[in-house]
Amino acid sequence: MSSAPVTVVDHPLIAAGLSILRAKTTAPDVFRRHLQEGAILLFAEASKKFQTAPIAVETPLASCAGAVLAKPIVLVPILRAGLGMLDGILRIAPDAGIGHIGLYRDAETLRPVSYFDRLPVNIAAAEVLLLDPMLATGHSACEATSILKAQGARHIQFLCLVACPPGIKQFHGAHPDVPIVTAAIDPELNTKGYIVPGLGDAGDRYFGTG
Ligand code: URA
Repeated sequence: MSSAPVTVVDHPLIAAGLSILRAKTTAPDVFRRHLQEGAILLFAEASKKFQTAPIAVETPLASCAGAVLAKPIVLVPILRAGLGMLDGILRIAPDAGIGHIGLYRDAETLRPVSYFDRLPVNIAAAEVLLLDPMLATGHSACEATSILKAQGARHIQFLCLVACPPGIKQFHGAHPDVPIVTAAIDPELNTKGYIVPGLGDAGDRYFGTG
């Protein structure tokens, strides 16, 4: 079975914003702004093919044809770095449903273990966007997607700012049906599971910790 597409969004605003995110001198307030804005641009790409239903609209001058989104949108950040992408996308999709998935890495098996998930009840009917800035080893994204599918999600896309070949391979090995939308594919993963060159620890930089 061939895998769903991996779309690298080619847009000057993404390229410029990602460079600011990558720079080690970028302060947390600026990092926050650009992570949020990058997520909005990724969301614009991911939503390009969302179905609409026709409606009639009365302008102050005449009636005309309009559109509404046919399916609800559900945004699911993987805690904690995914929250930065959520903050951005909510600015242009304020009525989206929100789910949360919390995962930690087991110290012995190095595998992600779920400690929290709470998802909206309409997830089966929704366009679901799973959010995590980094697709590194791919283990968290795989586990989170399995949780979404187990709770009925059928239309899922994974959005990240930076992916890498091992993460994409791992993710599409487990979930070949789920498209990936990213701003960049970096060449490597180091022995600590960080993407190189990447942008460092996205959660620490967003929240000013670490
Ligand atoms: N998580 C991050 O925040 N950065 C990486 O490079 C990999 C995983």
